Amino acid sequence: MTTNNKELVVEKIDNGTVIDHIPADKVFKIVRILGLEAYEDEILIGTNLCSKKYGKKGILKIKNKYFSQDEIDKIAIICPTATIIIIKNYEVEQKKHLEIPKHIHKIVKCINPNCITNVEEIETNFDVVNNDPIQIQCHYCEKTMEEIIFNE
Ligand code: CTP
Ligand code: ZN
Repeated sequence: MTTNNKELVVEKIDNGTVIDHIPADKVFKIVRILGLEAYEDEILIGTNLCSKKYGKKGILKIKNKYFSQDEIDKIAIICPTATIIIIKNYEVEQKKHLEIPKHIHKIVKCINPNCITNVEEIETNFDVVNNDPIQIQCHYCEKTMEEIIFNE
């Protein structure tokens, strides 16, 4: 949508999800952890956009896609400042502010190669022991980690 000769505004979407207020350096990480490289419908990606509140921000608009709670938890772990906006028929149906979960089930891998969750087919479980920077602890081997590796 062009508003005048100098300004180009990212268009609104009819149906889908907007992920707004993403720190600019996290946009492509979000694309990757949500597996959006393989998504076949339209995605609008903005990054390094000026935001009064956040300095530089990123935004993703994913048409005809609504995310599961596991996917929303992944977004919260990477960028808790983001807002998830559910769009239906061009209207904002819901705005969700994110919260880092207190427990993380299944979606993250333990970095300890000897952990039972890496040796046998056991679903992982972690407690979030610190929010900023995020630090999680494995229920099984008690290893704490700041590097979060998501399961595919
Ligand atoms: N949006 C969209 N398509 C729509 C409606 C909204 O892509 N049909 C996007 C807007 O571009 C905006 C976000 O969803 O990035 C939130 O929309 P809205 O609440 O209308 O905007 P603001 O009031 O500017 O939200 P905030 O102050 O939270 O940034
Ligand atoms: Zn472990």
